[in-house]
Amino acid sequence: MFGFCCLASSLSRLFLWLLLLLLNLPLQVKFAMLESHSFDCPTGENWSKDVCCKNCSAGTFVQAPCKISHTQGQCEKCPPGTFTEKDNYLDDCILCSTCNKDQEMVADCSATSDRKCQCKKGLYYYDPGFPESCRPCTKCPQGIHVLHECNSTANTVCSSSVSNRRNRLFLLLSPLCVLIVSIVVFCIIRR
Ligand SMILES: *[C@@H]1O[C@H](CO)[C@@H](O)[C@H](O)[C@H]1NC(C)=O
Ligand SMILES: *[C@@H]1O[C@H](CO)[C@@H](O)[C@H](O)[C@H]1NC(C)=O
Ligand SMILES: *[C@@H]1O[C@H](CO)[C@@H](O)[C@H](O)[C@H]1NC(C)=O
Repeated sequence: MFGFCCLASSLSRLFLWLLLLLLNLPLQVKFAMLESHSFDCPTGENWSKDVCCKNCSAGTFVQAPCKISHTQGQCEKCPPGTFTEKDNYLDDCILCSTCNKDQEMVADCSATSDRKCQCKKGLYYYDPGFPESCRPCTKCPQGIHVLHECNSTANTVCSSSVSNRRNRLFLLLSPLCVLIVSIVVFCIIRR
């Protein structure tokens, strides 16, 4: 009686194990397949429908993926107004940026590089986070000379000779003030 009970319990435990194993198996296989797919492709290649396709080169995009592994698919030249700077696996090229009214073009857009813009003469970028936001350059007051001319990335730097002159004046005047106050105090005490 006792023996049968033990046998039944260990059998049911074995059955549970088998059940778990069976349930788990397809899941593990699926994960292994996913992993092998994403790690199988050498660098510079991308997985597409069971094959590894070579990237398309800069200036082109992937029009259609390859059918034979380790080959390039159909790479098409970027249409005008778009670009890809590096080897890529993109379905479309990237739209070129445009210069706004405060900017002038430094380099036009090509298939492999974006259009480059800078603030027009007399304007400069005041926020490095927003290179498109230009602000008028500071004009140095008359008589004050320019230390650094304004350019597209940095504002004018004016000479600080005015504040220096003021500082010198202050340095000259303060001992004089102390002297006058001392004389006044001395006179009051003497009286
Ligand atoms: C291939 O293209 C992918 C996706 O655009 C990119 O992440 C990868 O760096 C490229 N590889 C090479 C070697 O250019
Ligand atoms: C292409 O493969 C690279 C690794 O080589 C990966 O970083 C990138 O995400 C893949 N791109 C696509 C579109 O699958
Ligand atoms: C603008 O001038 C600053 C110095 O005032 C300099 O550091 C910077 O390189 C200049 N930028 C350009 C684009 O000439």
